[in-house]
Amino acid sequence: MAFPIHRSRRLRQSTAIMRMVREAHLSVDDLIYPLFVCEGKGIKDEISSMPGIFRWSIDGLIQEAREAFELGIPAVILFGIPDKKDEMGTEAYNPNGIVQRAIREIKTHCPDLLVITDVCIDEFTDHGHCGIVREGKILNDETLELLSKMALTHAQSGVDMVAPSDMMDGRVQAIRQTLDENGFQDIILMAYSAKYASAYYGPFREAADSSPKFGDRRSYQMDPGNSDEGLREVFQDIEEGADIVMVKPALAYMDIIQRIKAQVNVPVAAYNVSGEYSMIKAAAQNGWVDGELVMMETLLSMKRAGANLILTYFAKEAATLMTRY
Ligand code: PBG
Repeated sequence: MAFPIHRSRRLRQSTAIMRMVREAHLSVDDLIYPLFVCEGKGIKDEISSMPGIFRWSIDGLIQEAREAFELGIPAVILFGIPDKKDEMGTEAYNPNGIVQRAIREIKTHCPDLLVITDVCIDEFTDHGHCGIVREGKILNDETLELLSKMALTHAQSGVDMVAPSDMMDGRVQAIRQTLDENGFQDIILMAYSAKYASAYYGPFREAADSSPKFGDRRSYQMDPGNSDEGLREVFQDIEEGADIVMVKPALAYMDIIQRIKAQVNVPVAAYNVSGEYSMIKAAAQNGWVDGELVMMETLLSMKRAGANLILTYFAKEAATLMTRY
């Protein structure tokens, strides 16, 4: 491949040839739009650290979901903010809870939009942890029962896909079994498989008021220093019945996305998390970077790393730009 016979710039001469030889593509089909839903009416409450992202009451949520659908975004993922939190996260598996009602309303008003739910009790517990707490410890096996109940109430409300994000061992198996036993064998399961204990979740925790009230999540979420362990988590989740596996966060974990994609034959999702969104927004608001260009480059790079799907707060903005081209 020596110069002057080979000249790489030949393939960079025009937009046409560059389009023809481009290896990675970003499409609206790849996008999953996260939405926060809270109690009340007429509420559209901007999250201060995430400009352009809101806590919606169900009426506004339906509208926002429909707008996403009309832009061609195939799916939304719901995060609930209940009025009442308690030790056992009871509202998480209340058949009439905020998320359960939101699923029913979206499926009624926008039936072709795929609805995904985050299955984890941290937004519903007063201590903010993703599992049942006893004597300062997060209990694994006892929590599985609550997660299964939560997923079942989502299924009964009409959800298309459930996404456990708690990082308890064995949760995929427990949820799959419960869904199957109750006739919900067609509900898709996307596992947050390689989910790291990350400071990039900061803005999300403000949005969902879900910071742990004591300690941190390092006894269940993964150590950022580990890569082999991410693969183990992924293989285990696939064995337990995950249809799609996820890496989270995305940007600081591109090597994990690439490694996992090379090793598995199920779709891989990447979660472009809240802190990644906030950093780009903040820099753009300061005029330090071109926000739109950095957004598109960032999302494309996740595709290049091997992600098939991207959960991103940029979904609507990116989709709007894509439809403009
Ligand atoms: C847990 C959950 C979290 C996020 C998604 N699901 C928070 C956490 O693990 O602390 C974070 C998403 C983001 O930062 O955008 N229910």
